[in-house]
Amino acid sequence: MAPGKPEASADFDARAATYDDLRPQDDNWWELFDLVSREADLGGQRVLDIGCGTGRLVAALAPKSSVWGIDASAEMLAVARNRVPGNVKLKLARAEDPPFKDSWFDRVVYWLVIHLLDRKVAFPAARRLLAPGGRACVVTFDSEYFSDFWLNRCFPRFEAIDRARFPTAAELDRELREAGFSEVRLLKHHQNDRIDRETALAKIAGRHISTFDLLEESEYEQGRRLAERTLPAAIEYDIDWLIAIAER
Ligand SMILES: C[S@@+](CC[C@H](N)C(=O)[O-])C[C@H]1O[C@@H](n2cnc3c(N)ncnc32)[C@H](O)[C@@H]1O
Repeated sequence: MAPGKPEASADFDARAATYDDLRPQDDNWWELFDLVSREADLGGQRVLDIGCGTGRLVAALAPKSSVWGIDASAEMLAVARNRVPGNVKLKLARAEDPPFKDSWFDRVVYWLVIHLLDRKVAFPAARRLLAPGGRACVVTFDSEYFSDFWLNRCFPRFEAIDRARFPTAAELDRELREAGFSEVRLLKHHQNDRIDRETALAKIAGRHISTFDLLEESEYEQGRRLAERTLPAAIEYDIDWLIAIAER
């Protein structure tokens, strides 16, 4: 598989209805939002959220910025349309072929999306959309996160699957520069979380992350049964974020 090119597409139409329940916009989300908004200077700008999903970022930015969102999943966008205020413009479109004029935006943001894209095509396309002085901001998981992910014991291939999809900090830096971005600033941010067993089992049953789409059905069933037998009453885990801010 070429680096930055997804091996198989994940099915977000299928997870749209449960996405916000299984991956809630919790205190950690808002803490990260404040950090990213500040570091990438998103307030008061013309912002495109690429892979906007159910619209949580565009809705959070809408009071202060002019906001557009695109997503490749019609079902995720349908959820977003019910949430966002009227000034947010949403379109069904792919990151690799964004339907906007050159230099139309001050900021483009990818929040937990780049592991799903053909980045060799998507990053130069995003750069073309930025006005002079514009910035791209990538929010993704740092490689550290995959070493100790709370589902690794039940689904032993998760670590390898995600390490192949998500670029390391050095790879992301290189890819953005190769796409023509002049300066790239990388930040790491650590959080932790705690979920109870019932919540964990609901996440597994709902295949809350796209990594599940890349398992064989038998591997999934085996892992689900192992989780039912072995998950403790509470699960605590670390979350390691990687944020890149790239100047046009
Ligand atoms: C993990 S979700 C993240 C959604 C949102 N950014 C968030 O943080 O809640 C990934 C999103 O990327 C979208 N997506 C996947 N491939 C895409 C592509 N090539 N172009 C645009 N969106 C894409 C999916 O449909 C999905 O809504």
